[in-house]
Amino acid sequence: MNISVVGLGPVGLCSAVAFATQGHRVIGFDIDASRRDQVSRGEPPFYEKGIREALRKVLRAKRFSVVDTMDAAIEPAAVVFLCVGTPSREDGWRDGKRRTVVVKSTVLPGTTDNVVRPILEASGRPFRLGVNPEFLREGRALEDALRPDRVVLGADGPETARVLKSLYRSSKCPVLATDLKTAEAVKYATNSFLATKVAFADELANLCDALGVSYDEVHKGLGLDSRINPRFLVPGVGFGGSCFPKDVRALVSAGRRHGVEPRLLEAVLAQNEVQYLRAIAFLEEELGDLNGKRIAILGLAFKGDTDDIRETRAFPIARSLLSKGALVVGYDPLAGPAFSKVVPEVKVVDSVKEALAGADGTILQGDWPAFSRLTAKDFMTTMATPVVVDGRRILDPKKMRGVRFHRIG
Ligand code: UDX
Repeated sequence: MNISVVGLGPVGLCSAVAFATQGHRVIGFDIDASRRDQVSRGEPPFYEKGIREALRKVLRAKRFSVVDTMDAAIEPAAVVFLCVGTPSREDGWRDGKRRTVVVKSTVLPGTTDNVVRPILEASGRPFRLGVNPEFLREGRALEDALRPDRVVLGADGPETARVLKSLYRSSKCPVLATDLKTAEAVKYATNSFLATKVAFADELANLCDALGVSYDEVHKGLGLDSRINPRFLVPGVGFGGSCFPKDVRALVSAGRRHGVEPRLLEAVLAQNEVQYLRAIAFLEEELGDLNGKRIAILGLAFKGDTDDIRETRAFPIARSLLSKGALVVGYDPLAGPAFSKVVPEVKVVDSVKEALAGADGTILQGDWPAFSRLTAKDFMTTMATPVVVDGRRILDPKKMRGVRFHRIG
């Protein structure tokens, strides 16, 4: 099928490359000329595992190309995916062909019908309308796009549903075909539930600490209930990223606008706001007043395997430490420069070793695989005092002999 993808951010580009890899002919367009140029040269404008090779492969095979105008993107397409923050006016509709426009952006239930439809109608061209929320995890976005574990399709009628289903024919996973509004809602429901799981795990781990119970064992027992499962129950310094905080906030405000007070989701946000304080408390317990102390933050992006700093918990951690007079040093394999721009008071260095050198304490904020390989010796030989707070539960406490080691739960 001829597909065009408007918006070449992580979601758009990974989806485009995945469709092209599966044999469709894909055309990409982005309003940003430098991004178009980068992508067409085979240079992804962001970090995402496997995307560079996969992009180059589909460019070479001529199954994917980037064009300079919206017209050129839309003209040959049967299906147009909108992968942009805010859908804008579609201009490239010169013929009378009925195209299927699919909203992949995360938008509140009703937006596709109430906002996108009038824009398309104003163009006077025939169209069908669909919604296909993405469930891509950053760092694994390409893998998730290539091998989804479920597909949710919203359609404005049976013909749209047929077109959308045929796009995912090769995916061996459950497909839910529903209406536009429901498909939009499923995305918010999913992210809100996952965020709730994480906030629950954080709170439960805090309670386990207070009650003198090992979270590890509780987690195992809890996860054995097939209705619960053990995933997304890893406690730490809270969730961040481009989706969870934003989507939960959006659902809370939408609820309020419609006369529902979403108390549970408000509590999820409130709990997440303060969870990082547990990590700071561990440092203070060990080191007393943090004024003048050198504290390293390992991992500045909102999680490992990404360069994305949106809503990273490293922000409140760094700001809190700075406000207490600590000298804060940060390291991240990818996100250092971006983080520096937002919190320039943090000294961003180029390696774990440099970050730990002479440090009085460290907080592991990112779950990068390289951090999980750190040993007790690494901390003991480089730090002034080996006080380590594992904010992502990636180190084995049994192997941390000699380290003043803390983790939540
Ligand atoms: C999420 C969803 O997983 C994805 O389906 C959706 O499309 C976009 O939002 P992402 O933001 O990339 O993906 O990150 P994810 O891996 O889900 O983690 C989100 C946050 O929760 C991170 O800060 C992570 O560290 C935290 N988290 C996750 C935990 O603290 N504990 C967990 O058990 C899982």
